[in-house]
Amino acid sequence: KRVILSGIQPTGTPHLGNYLGALSNWVQLQRDSSPNDTLLYTIVGWHALTLPQDPKKLSQSRREMLATLLAIGLDPNRSIIFHQDHNPHHTEFAWILSCLTPFGKLKRMTTWKSRLADSRNANNESEVNESLLNAGLFTYPVLQAADILVYRATHVPVGEDQTQHLELSRDIAQIFNQTYKRLFTLPKQLSTPSKRILSLKNPAAKMSKSAPDVQSRILLTDSHNQIKAKIRSAVTDSITGVTYDPETRPGTSNLLTILGACTNREGSDVAADYRSKGHGELKADVAEAIEGLLRGPRSEFERLREERGYLDDVAKDGAEKARALSEITMLDVRRRIGLS
Ligand code: TYM
Repeated sequence: KRVILSGIQPTGTPHLGNYLGALSNWVQLQRDSSPNDTLLYTIVGWHALTLPQDPKKLSQSRREMLATLLAIGLDPNRSIIFHQDHNPHHTEFAWILSCLTPFGKLKRMTTWKSRLADSRNANNESEVNESLLNAGLFTYPVLQAADILVYRATHVPVGEDQTQHLELSRDIAQIFNQTYKRLFTLPKQLSTPSKRILSLKNPAAKMSKSAPDVQSRILLTDSHNQIKAKIRSAVTDSITGVTYDPETRPGTSNLLTILGACTNREGSDVAADYRSKGHGELKADVAEAIEGLLRGPRSEFERLREERGYLDDVAKDGAEKARALSEITMLDVRRRIGLS
């Protein structure tokens, strides 16, 4: 019996990287699951607060993220779909786990290290602008561990950028088990085969919601014309012909990865079709493949985003189911730690 859990931040519209790297896998897992499996998918509003958010926009993104999850094919009758902030057990448990988490482990998290780097003074590298760093950014991975462990999840489908957070979740589970007798199985990461999708403008970085250049990502809501324009202007290289070589040709290879992911093939395999073709043809085909992939979800999203009452009902129902499950863990946890 598997308990599958994953989460996504409600910061802006999801992009192709989120979809190919994570969300499409959520739907696939739902399709392939056995009736004994429990599936939980959460929209992590509390994690979003670690960066400055406009309350109005956050509230809208949070609702739109729910609409997106339904639009791509998650079924609220099969999967428990809910807002993290509707279940206070996550924060209660995160506090308990933070008291078991060694400070040094959090200091070694690459996401924290990159936040720290971002806040360094450009002229004087040893100077950190501490007003840019909040405690939530530091303890972010502990809340993530709580999201996972409070449901005793066994499998966590995430992109490769989350590997270190998953490792920490296992470490924390192990520390809890050693301190209070074994309660948690160690959660396994389920990586999506298509791996990392890179920025269309800077293939040294991953495609991200927060990059300033909107041309660097394809949004799930982009029109056919927007998709064509963004792919046409994607950075590749000046080498003639098309080959798959992520090291020396990251931009071209990223397009092959995307095309492969849209058609269930490997990027290297797709490259063989373009041996005698150029970037122009590749880009045209990539744009069409993305349009084919996103057309259905996009129109379903447009329909669902207006259905406020329905979205609220789904969220409420999901939160109730989630809370009923996490309550079982919390009763056990509180007893073990001496606070029941
Ligand atoms: P988030 O919201 O940044 O991303 C959601 C999912 O999308 C994947 N992803 C990508 N995959 C491939 N290529 C990309 N360019 C790309 N960008 C993002 C991420 O790996 C992720 O699977 N900390 C998490 C949210 C979270 C969570 C959890 C996940 C909170 N609690 C519990 C799993 C379990 C995050 O920030 O994801």
